[in-house]
Amino acid sequence: MGAIRTAVVGLNLGMGHVRAFKALEQADLRWVVDLDEEKAAKAAEEYGCNYTTDWTSILDDVDAVSICTPHHLHFPQTLQAIRAGKHVLLEKPFANTEAECLELIEAVDAHNVKLMLAYVVRYMPHMRRLKEALDSGRYGVPFSAQCWVEAYLQPRPNSWLSQKDKLGGGVLFSHGCHYVDALMWLLGTPKQVTAMGTRAGTEWMESEGTSHALMQFESGALSHIVTSWGMKYRDTPAKYQIHTPTAAFIVKGEQVDVITEEGRHTLYDPSETKQPNIFLPEIEHFLDCIATGRKPETDGRDSLMSLRAIWRMYEEQERFGLGEART
Ligand SMILES: NC(=O)c1ccc[n+]([C@@H]2O[C@H](COP(=O)([O-])OP(=O)(O)OC[C@H]3O[C@@H](n4cnc5c(N)ncnc54)[C@H](O)[C@@H]3O)[C@@H](O)[C@H]2O)c1
Repeated sequence: MGAIRTAVVGLNLGMGHVRAFKALEQADLRWVVDLDEEKAAKAAEEYGCNYTTDWTSILDDVDAVSICTPHHLHFPQTLQAIRAGKHVLLEKPFANTEAECLELIEAVDAHNVKLMLAYVVRYMPHMRRLKEALDSGRYGVPFSAQCWVEAYLQPRPNSWLSQKDKLGGGVLFSHGCHYVDALMWLLGTPKQVTAMGTRAGTEWMESEGTSHALMQFESGALSHIVTSWGMKYRDTPAKYQIHTPTAAFIVKGEQVDVITEEGRHTLYDPSETKQPNIFLPEIEHFLDCIATGRKPETDGRDSLMSLRAIWRMYEEQERFGLGEART
């Protein structure tokens, strides 16, 4: 198979995909697409490819398309690409409803193409190292995991990010989905889940801008995720602590340390692998799956599981009621 002809649709976060496709010889980056013509033209000039504002017009010229658009567009755009026989790398989260996700999974089966969800965290080298250590059995079975994801957004008024129907929920669905997915990958299937959310601190959002979510896993482990778009002052952007009977794993940024009776040592040091682009490993996996016929690790069926957990959390959040700032 020659180089896989690719296009990237949506050029904000999508620029990371553009750089990764450009850097990999398995890919032939042919098109960049954005409704904003100036943005598309600039990216095309910088990365030596074609540009357009109408992604449907270039489908005949590509084998695979990367969809990096607002969440309410994931379903219609992905369905159209799959029906045209194209492989799709779709930014997270999968789609805004379970029915839409199921329709996309059916379409993938019917058209014999690859669909991969861009859960970038899962493919990052430090997380692979952490998973290897936990799966090795050397440290025993994890019983507790904590995950903090502190962020601050200030989008323009009426942005799709503030609108519940376009975003598909609040911060838990949009950003927390990475961490629900990652913890299920590390700890297994959750038996029970719950979450509380608040708009306090992020009044610009229709749904929760801060979420505290709990999972109890079939293994007996518990996890707690804190995710927010309202935390202006913060320490680390992402941090996990996972405890087993004989060890504590500390993930700060991309550094992974383990503490045991022998003391503290580093399992993964970010300087170990020079990653000019965090999207390279996931995009290499996508291209490899197309070339070899292998199933993407984060395919539709896999990715639906963590969204189902989040939708169950949202039923709980509704039952508790959303927090509001006291006036
Ligand atoms: N992996 C991560 O960590 C991460 C981080 C940020 C965003 N994301 C995901 O990336 C996706 C996009 O998010 P974003 O922050 O870049 O959004 P954004 O709104 O900032 O950018 C979206 C871009 O898509 C373009 N666009 C919209 N509709 C289009 C269409 N029909 N055709 C062509 N272009 C179109 C817009 O003009 C805009 O440039 C979302 O799924 C989001 O969840 C992932």
